[in-house]
Amino acid sequence: MGKFYITTAIDYANGPPHLGHAYEKVLADVVARLRRLKGDQVRFLTGLDEHGQKVQQSAKKEGIDPKVFVDSIAEKFQKLLIDLNISNDDYIRTTEERHKTVVRDILQRLFDEGEIYKGEYSGFYSVRAEQFVQETEKEGNKWPEDYGEVIKITEANYFFRLSKYRAWLIEYIQDHEDLIYPRFRAKQVLEFLKEPINDLCISRPKERLGWGIPLPFDDEYVAYVWFDALINYLSAVDSSASHLRDFWPANFHVIGKDILVPPHAIYWPIMLKAAGYEPPRGFLVHGFWTTAGKKMSKSTGETVDPLDLINQYGADVFRYFVTREMTVGQDSEFSLELFVTRYTSDLANDLGNLVSRLLNMVHQYRDGVLPSGRFTEQPEENLRESWKKTNWNVVSLFEEFRFNNGLAETFNFIRSINRYAEIRAPWKLAKSSKSGDVGSVDTTLAHMAEGLRLAVCLLAPVMPVTSAKILALLGQPEVSSWQEGLDWSNRLEGKRVKKKTILFPRI
Ligand code: MSP
Repeated sequence: MGKFYITTAIDYANGPPHLGHAYEKVLADVVARLRRLKGDQVRFLTGLDEHGQKVQQSAKKEGIDPKVFVDSIAEKFQKLLIDLNISNDDYIRTTEERHKTVVRDILQRLFDEGEIYKGEYSGFYSVRAEQFVQETEKEGNKWPEDYGEVIKITEANYFFRLSKYRAWLIEYIQDHEDLIYPRFRAKQVLEFLKEPINDLCISRPKERLGWGIPLPFDDEYVAYVWFDALINYLSAVDSSASHLRDFWPANFHVIGKDILVPPHAIYWPIMLKAAGYEPPRGFLVHGFWTTAGKKMSKSTGETVDPLDLINQYGADVFRYFVTREMTVGQDSEFSLELFVTRYTSDLANDLGNLVSRLLNMVHQYRDGVLPSGRFTEQPEENLRESWKKTNWNVVSLFEEFRFNNGLAETFNFIRSINRYAEIRAPWKLAKSSKSGDVGSVDTTLAHMAEGLRLAVCLLAPVMPVTSAKILALLGQPEVSSWQEGLDWSNRLEGKRVKKKTILFPRI
């Protein structure tokens, strides 16, 4: 328990959101909600990366002022957060004054201390990637597609002494095994650091790029967009007179694999070190959705945007799907078929049926009031035993970011409640008038209800609305802490259940 600060990458404001952006928010949100349930004081930050060449170019293409352009993009990204039910505490935009102040402070400090110096740079520059590129990166005799147009330029610029910290960084990464999840990515970082690294060019002449934060010590230049953007993590908690400073260092920066090396794993720790801040405690690095941004095709030949599924099925279904399908750290293919299959088999059949079946029977046989589960025998003991295992497993799988496995276990447990109901068959027992059977019906309904309650407590970080809805159907408040609440109990005894509602209508 303690303070827990988690961030996502801040999205480029040069186009509308896509599946990759949505996934990263969900992943970070699941971790944030999990930590809150575990009792941590969580600070969850996300935001928008609004400066730089790409944004300037996109605005120009539309013939509007960059600020007007990024405002319209910010609206789209913020709507996505609401649609996905993301529980961020703050949203930072790099055009905000609170951010620019911190960037300027850090730049000035590093300049005063000689960590930033003026030099001459001559090299190949990719306009699209907004970075100088090396000839060794050429494939055959051509620049990689991603770089778009590459031009040769020579110009005076400011440099940050990155190379000086290489040995420190290597040692730091070696000493902090938990710094990068999954761990195999730390090897890639160390591999990168085997070669000497160049100092980082952190300025862009204003005549080439006007849309950025002017350097406090030379207003002919603006800051390089990555230098500006990375500082968001700090400026959101470190702006003057902030009561949030204690949240630094961040516990996790959630990012995609494309931006670990070099910006997050090389530039960022060194920038912090040079400016006198502690490095972050961790990077949670996810893989890519391989159809991200592309349209998916329905069997009818129509196409769908993955993000349309959020409004069509609700945030929780989308959240469940991406969390269940993706192994954190690896790539995953987004397919509509798989989405529909998961929806039907896990949500509509396994979970949805359990809820409606239980509520129906409680109304039919017990006037809507949950009975006590006193007469326990082998089937009940088996179910409780199965819960005990599930509970421990799932919590630790979630804590290890193995959400797909944790959800698989949770749904196994849900299926075992359904199997238990089949074995007990209360619909048969209820027809018999023997007094022992009266106890059995009670016991069965009580066990199904308690099993369901516990399962949906575990689902809360991934499906917060569904979890709260089902708990409300059982006469329970939404789960706010896992401290109590995950143990088998008889707290539902005597609770009045609501009339059944269809949670997951069939397609
Ligand atoms: N603006 C930078 C990040 C600056 S952080 C100080 C950036 N923006 S981005 O919009 O291109 O990407 C934002 C995040 O989305 C990144 O973590 C990136 O890895 C992630 N994704 C972009 N496409 C993705 C997929 N197809 N799949 C999963 N995530 C992907 O990079």
